Amino acid sequence: MFDALKPQPADKILSLMAAFREDPREDKVDLGVGVYKNAEGRTPVMRAVKAAEQKLWQTEDTKSYTGLAGDPGFHDAMRALVLNDCVSRDQVAAAAAPGGTGAIRQGLELIRMAAPDARIWLSAPTWPNHPSIIKYLGMPMAEYRYFDADTRGVDFGGMLTDLDAAKPGDVVLLHGCCHNPTGANLTASQWQEVAYFLKAKQLIPFVDIAYQGFGDGLDADAFGPRHLAKTQPEMLIAASCSKNFGVYRERAGLLMAVSQDPAKTPLNQGTVAFLNRQNYSFPPDHGARLVTMVLTDDALRADWLAELEGIRTGMLTLRQTLADALRKRTNSDRFDFIAQHRGMFSRLGATEAQVEQMRQSHGIYMVSDSRLNIAGLNAQSVPVLADAIVAAGV
Ligand code: LMR
Repeated sequence: MFDALKPQPADKILSLMAAFREDPREDKVDLGVGVYKNAEGRTPVMRAVKAAEQKLWQTEDTKSYTGLAGDPGFHDAMRALVLNDCVSRDQVAAAAAPGGTGAIRQGLELIRMAAPDARIWLSAPTWPNHPSIIKYLGMPMAEYRYFDADTRGVDFGGMLTDLDAAKPGDVVLLHGCCHNPTGANLTASQWQEVAYFLKAKQLIPFVDIAYQGFGDGLDADAFGPRHLAKTQPEMLIAASCSKNFGVYRERAGLLMAVSQDPAKTPLNQGTVAFLNRQNYSFPPDHGARLVTMVLTDDALRADWLAELEGIRTGMLTLRQTLADALRKRTNSDRFDFIAQHRGMFSRLGATEAQVEQMRQSHGIYMVSDSRLNIAGLNAQSVPVLADAIVAAGV
């Protein structure tokens, strides 16, 4: 049987992680995988998460199973974080999943079960694991224009033109905020236009929100999914806790199926719980429980908010410092878009050869499509990167 296996395509983000690890240069700079790093280059456990973990260790008296869809307390806390009071509890079916990716996978399986012919529309470009999972599941997919390579902003006209070819019942995958890999995001009024468009064309939004709090703030970053939840008959949301709670390896995420009609929720709930059972039975609990503790304890929540805000503003400062350094070196405003992008990533617009040159000459690692992780920078590496960008002729 094993002889029949074929090598699978390598994930470009994960291969880059391995290449970085093997590079012996001490001054190498990792701008690859989307993991937050502080000025010392570490990915610390957030203070409130550590405090919750300590409390949990003292108070947890069983490791017995939770519910098949996870802990309802986690659903409530995350529903409030992502959707605030835009919907009522009885409009949302929810299932905890192993990370945001797990929630995406479960959401796609729900779509395949309910609407096997629906096409999944993906932004061009998108996180490479989106098309990879969809292809693996054998589901039809299509692309809509999203990133304007000239302005490095959103090609909103192109987006709506392409989505005009979608058929009623098709699903549109949207990044809730902090678009990965580009850093270019819809404005509030564009979200409103998208909502109007989707409803008119009877398209179903599936929002992947993995960086809430990394862009313009927790509430501003959730504007899109909240507006959609208020206006669309139904939608799916995959929320990740990996980045904004820093619990990457714990795998904490939540799938939500939102319906205007609360009568639909019991069936939706039964379905997401069933899908959990088929794929892994009970979802991981540790990370989800820490997140719930942080969100429901006033002191822990306040501390988490303060730390998250520090992370967010730190990335904004790095963006501005890099844009300024490039302004100085190029005597132009060509790279100002870096300061305007939001979230962890920006797509620089370099060719693969230029990305490779930066890696060879300066030990700078970014994804081959020139996505760079802003949080991988610090005061020392910003000038190195700016020099490398200019030397590569980007
Ligand atoms: C990324 O885009 O770098 C992260 O979401 C990590 C991953 O799993 O690819």
